[in-house]
Amino acid sequence: MKALILSGGKGTRLRPLTYTGAKQLVPVANKPILWYGIEEMVTAGITDIGIVISPETGGEVKAKTGNGEKFGATITYILQEQPAGLAHAVKIARPFLENSPFVMYLGDNLIQQGDLSYFLKQFQQQHHDALILLRTVDNPSAFGVAKVDEQGTVLELIEKPKIPPSNLALVGVYFFSNIIHEAIACIKPSARNELEITDAIQYLIGQNKQVSACRLEGWWLDTGKKDDLLEANRLILDTSLQTLIDGEVDTSSQVIGRVKIGSGSKVINCTIRGPVVIGEHCHLENCFIGPYSSIADKSTLVDTELEHSVVLEGAKISGIQQRIIDSLIGQRAQVTLEPRRPKALRFMIGDDCQIELT
Ligand code: G1P
Repeated sequence: MKALILSGGKGTRLRPLTYTGAKQLVPVANKPILWYGIEEMVTAGITDIGIVISPETGGEVKAKTGNGEKFGATITYILQEQPAGLAHAVKIARPFLENSPFVMYLGDNLIQQGDLSYFLKQFQQQHHDALILLRTVDNPSAFGVAKVDEQGTVLELIEKPKIPPSNLALVGVYFFSNIIHEAIACIKPSARNELEITDAIQYLIGQNKQVSACRLEGWWLDTGKKDDLLEANRLILDTSLQTLIDGEVDTSSQVIGRVKIGSGSKVINCTIRGPVVIGEHCHLENCFIGPYSSIADKSTLVDTELEHSVVLEGAKISGIQQRIIDSLIGQRAQVTLEPRRPKALRFMIGDDCQIELT
């Protein structure tokens, strides 16, 4: 069994963060989203992993993730020159996949930890040609959608339907036997000019191949958007964060609940109410950091209240007189209060930023 993790794409819905980096490397609880997928594979016993990368962000993904050693895996990088679709990614990964069965995992998806092992077992025991995962969603038009009969048999799969036949979305985790390559060879590009994996699976259904679906009951997040990312951050902090204080916390600070503070970080006169993760070499002074916040390495927060937010590496926040909530603050971004006259707001805002003032 091999794994193919897709880590290309433009990440348009996460702009501006994705102007300077891959969406799969945006951190959730201070760890790149992509790494959760890799770790899930290794936990399920799959260590031969191919990662499909794009020319734009592939270098960064490779440099950060490495050859797999730190995960106990072997990683092979496969360059997809054009974003020509998920099925196209499988096509170009054929020399890596050979004739092995494999699990395909979209690198910006997160599923509840432990679920992958369960579905892998189902796939292997029942000798399916394809096993897909379905989950009910409120906005099926944004996904591949399945039409199933009363027994749960998949009748039809449609990619981003205008009028969805159900609210069952295709989760970005698929199990395939090598027969998928025949299907991919037979499909044509979709209206958005991509070779869709949904169409390839639909082709298998049309050929009466064994395509089964399992319902995913655990949580699933497609982290392509800000609110989903914050929700993923909340879920991971809620379920997996363990207290570990490596940094220095002075005696006038209060640390309550599950809090992780990395080495080289200094916490002075702060109240930190977990679950909260603070990276390495951060400086926090006179702050309140509320639940579900992740602060990446080398950030500086002074005279600040922040809650339910994700702060990326090297950001600087100081003196803001209102509590910052539900926010995603990019690498090296600065949000500061300057006691200058005239008293006014001064911005240097990058493309596609969102600022909400009240
Ligand atoms: C892709 C698939 C879609 C699936 C979704 C899950 O969509 O094409 O069928 O439901 O991932 O995240 P995309 O993210 O390419 O829009």
